[in-house]
Amino acid sequence: MFDVAIIGGGPGGYVAAERAGAAGLSVVLFERKSLGGVCLNEGCIPTKTLLYGAKVYNYAVNGDHYGVYAQNPSFNYGEFVKRKDKVVKKLVGGIKAAMKGYKVQVVSESATIKGRSAEGIEIVAGSESYLCRNLLVCTGSEAAVPPFPGLKEAGEVIVTNREILALQEQPKELVVIGGGVIGMEFAAFYSTLGTKVTVVEMLPKILGPMDDEISSMLQGIYAKRGVNFCLKCKVTGIEGNTVVYEDPEGKQCRVSGDKILVSVGRRANFAGLGLENIGVEMATNPAGRPVGIKVDEHMRTNIPNVYAAGDVTGFSMLAHTASREGEVAINNILGKADRMRYNAIPGVVYTNPEVAGVGLTESEAKAKGIDFKVVKLPMAYSGRFVAENEGGEGICKLIVGAKYHEVLGAHMLGNPCSEIIQSMCIAIEQEMTLEQIKEVVFPHPTVGEIIKETAFALK
Ligand code: NAI
Repeated sequence: MFDVAIIGGGPGGYVAAERAGAAGLSVVLFERKSLGGVCLNEGCIPTKTLLYGAKVYNYAVNGDHYGVYAQNPSFNYGEFVKRKDKVVKKLVGGIKAAMKGYKVQVVSESATIKGRSAEGIEIVAGSESYLCRNLLVCTGSEAAVPPFPGLKEAGEVIVTNREILALQEQPKELVVIGGGVIGMEFAAFYSTLGTKVTVVEMLPKILGPMDDEISSMLQGIYAKRGVNFCLKCKVTGIEGNTVVYEDPEGKQCRVSGDKILVSVGRRANFAGLGLENIGVEMATNPAGRPVGIKVDEHMRTNIPNVYAAGDVTGFSMLAHTASREGEVAINNILGKADRMRYNAIPGVVYTNPEVAGVGLTESEAKAKGIDFKVVKLPMAYSGRFVAENEGGEGICKLIVGAKYHEVLGAHMLGNPCSEIIQSMCIAIEQEMTLEQIKEVVFPHPTVGEIIKETAFALK
């Protein structure tokens, strides 16, 4: 009998296992593929490793901006891929060691929920059966691939985030369907290496939920670097290596590439888990289709002692959300008061320059009817930013309550805003006002000072 069984070893599951193990609970963790889940094996970490390679190459190419002259900088795509695999292997090894350290029993099999009795919840994996007092489901998500006519016939030309990471050769021409986070990160990577990239996006903007002004600035930067953006263009089919889409006037257009990346969102993994064997209720979309496991703010499902965390819940599909949700579930299992709050979940896009945001955007604040103010400054108000980003564009934008100036949202473009944004997560969590932020001593010179400068810019 285990105190907790966790199905899925991604950032939801393995972090929960660590926390549970540290608290002295006996834990069994089922992972059918590789510890670390999508994030570590085919998402966050491999893409950041590749993007860093592209960034270093970009520094070499543009060294003259800083008085550095490299002759004919070049790169070896195969070595990028090898280094990515090495980084992933090292980090997977780290998680394995952590599981051992916390005495978590890792079962490398697909797990199915068999049933529930007075004794506990029964899980079957391989030829073994496991009993547990509590169950946490963290089975993640996979790329949603719409049934575009002609998609199946197109075969290996079509890739998702998973297959594109395994490519051993750089595509010469890449068509990206969906200008969201995944689409833009791969567009950034490949365009830096000289691939001709076209992004086909059905909305009028890239990076849907991010701040409108920042999305448009980023689009402008990549358009200047040669990325072709087709906005308000809905993909209707695939013909071999050609994407067929409808332009804003309803005209049928075509664009070809040697690879076509489908990055139009993700769908929760819950099929075949046996959730129905214990009666777990699902969250549904307006059409009544199940989209994820229904949970409350404590990550509890409708069944006592059964929890879910991460992408399998069908919303806020981010690794860091999953980890925190896993912690909340374990704390509730331990009887500690803890609940999930979603008002300060940061979002980062690792393009170059990076985009980072947390809390409400201007359009969200408007839609909610909130009385708010916007204060913004170019990143160039930070001396460190100017020193390190020759000709670089950037912006810092804060959304605050009109009366008390409490921080409601923060949105940035410019390196390294991914490393600065957490201060604004703390500000939102702690309901800090701009007046309080003004009293904090920021290290100088840092790009982070832009936040304090922006706070002082409020009229
Ligand atoms: P997404 O939801 O960010 O973007 C998908 C885009 O595809 C949307 O803009 C949508 O309008 C567009 N689209 C949908 N159907 C289309 C069609 N038929 N024609 C043209 N455009 C179409 O989804 P994405 O990029 O696949 O990312 C999936 C998840 O992974 C997201 O939840 C994201 O938050 C997460 N993720 C996070 C990362 C990060 O935090 N840096 C990195 C990568 C993924």
